[in-house]
Amino acid sequence: MPLGSRRLVVSKQRDYYRAVRRAAAALNSDMPLKQILDTIVRSTANAMKAAVSLLLLDSTRSKLIHSSSWRLPQSYLHKGVLEADKSLAAVLAGQAVAIADVSQDNRVQHPELAAKAGIVSILGVPLIVGGMPAGNIRVYTKERNEFSNQDINFVTTMANLAAIAIHSDALRQGEADEQEKSQAKAAVLQQARTAAFAHPSEEEFAHILDFYHIEWVYEPRAFPLRWEGDRVTEMFTPDFYLPGLDLYVELTTLKQNLVTEKNRKLRRLRELYPEIKINLLYKKDFDRILAKYGYGPLAQARGRGISKVLYSSTEIHQRVRELAEQISTDYADCHPVMVGVLRGVFCFMADLVRQATIPVDVEFMAISYYSGGESSTVKITKDMNLNIANRHVIMVEDIVDTGMTLNYMINHLKNREPASLGVCTLLDKRVRRIVDVPLDYIGFEVPDEFVVGYGLDYNEEYRNLPFIGVLGPEET
Ligand code: IMP
Repeated sequence: MPLGSRRLVVSKQRDYYRAVRRAAAALNSDMPLKQILDTIVRSTANAMKAAVSLLLLDSTRSKLIHSSSWRLPQSYLHKGVLEADKSLAAVLAGQAVAIADVSQDNRVQHPELAAKAGIVSILGVPLIVGGMPAGNIRVYTKERNEFSNQDINFVTTMANLAAIAIHSDALRQGEADEQEKSQAKAAVLQQARTAAFAHPSEEEFAHILDFYHIEWVYEPRAFPLRWEGDRVTEMFTPDFYLPGLDLYVELTTLKQNLVTEKNRKLRRLRELYPEIKINLLYKKDFDRILAKYGYGPLAQARGRGISKVLYSSTEIHQRVRELAEQISTDYADCHPVMVGVLRGVFCFMADLVRQATIPVDVEFMAISYYSGGESSTVKITKDMNLNIANRHVIMVEDIVDTGMTLNYMINHLKNREPASLGVCTLLDKRVRRIVDVPLDYIGFEVPDEFVVGYGLDYNEEYRNLPFIGVLGPEET
């Protein structure tokens, strides 16, 4: 080997050794996990004179999220959710993948964006925690790089150190084995996710999603809306992506005159990306969600008394009879179990089962409601006594609003392996839906107003009204 090349190899070895030493020192320190991973990523980047990112699988194990990165441009980091099975999929299967020219290789999910960010070569090595694929470390270079065995071995060592950090952090938390791995990852993800909310209401919304066990990622993708030549002149970055629902949510807390502009962007987004599902929540929608849980500006301002009757007692009974007849026909010979979620459902359930002309079993559950703040999650406060495995189950609801409660309940009941699961709701406040849950029987579609009576309450009042009415004006 010529002297010059030998010198280069020696200096490279020295850089790699220094990086491993730094990473090991971080690992043996009392730094929080995120900081250890940042050190590993940064040391790898410096030693390889490249950009580096550590990507972790999200809890659905289908998407990869940049959790710690160094020298990667923001535009590239926010390029969108990486599908685990499309983006360097072999890495997750446990192999290192070296791509010398990203523009010529179909294993890269967004080659055009990589080219725009000036990336020519990528090396991906697996990150395996406790024998399970957890993500990967990627090295991005601006110059063509064939990546030698020495390079691959070095990055693999750094990935192993990162895996040890994640694993030992999990052990430290003292949780059960399987939980430990996912919790350690969840902790890293959480830090990456909560990094920079632009507005407190976004953080609040994230807490609500967490409460209902709905996976979310904050601002993972910027959609180009307009271009001048190659240059993007307008972008739109929705606030949230909910991977489990494949849904984007934009929360707007803006003044009305600025909302018009946002609506225009949203129309454009829908034109350009018709396959994207996106929901816009206006400030008022959001305040109404909060008010439902008893706080926020509308909760304080909510008036008292009934401003109008929506459905009289006679109308309700007529409709409940129709629903009961329909269910009796559909479930003839099935002997279904009707499961209601307390307490709003008690009037409806009592009337529905009494009008049914087939044998039914009746069960109730109760769950906790969102009461603000971090780290609370929905809990079953009263579970079923009946075993519903292999039974035909009908979930009975008083009202479906955002759909988050029902979504949680459906997932919960599905785990009990019923033979079938149908949903019957007396009221459907469809205009406010966030989670698109399938409804089989609907009593009435109600407008976007807070309704009470016939079991439904506001602060525990009004449940015993025989009709359904709209609560007094929201703003005084
Ligand atoms: P979701 O999770 O947003 O669909 O909310 C469902 C729950 O919110 C219901 O079971 C009710 O307890 C409550 N809720 C939603 N809208 C109203 C309403 O207009 N009046 C009373 N309770 C409501």
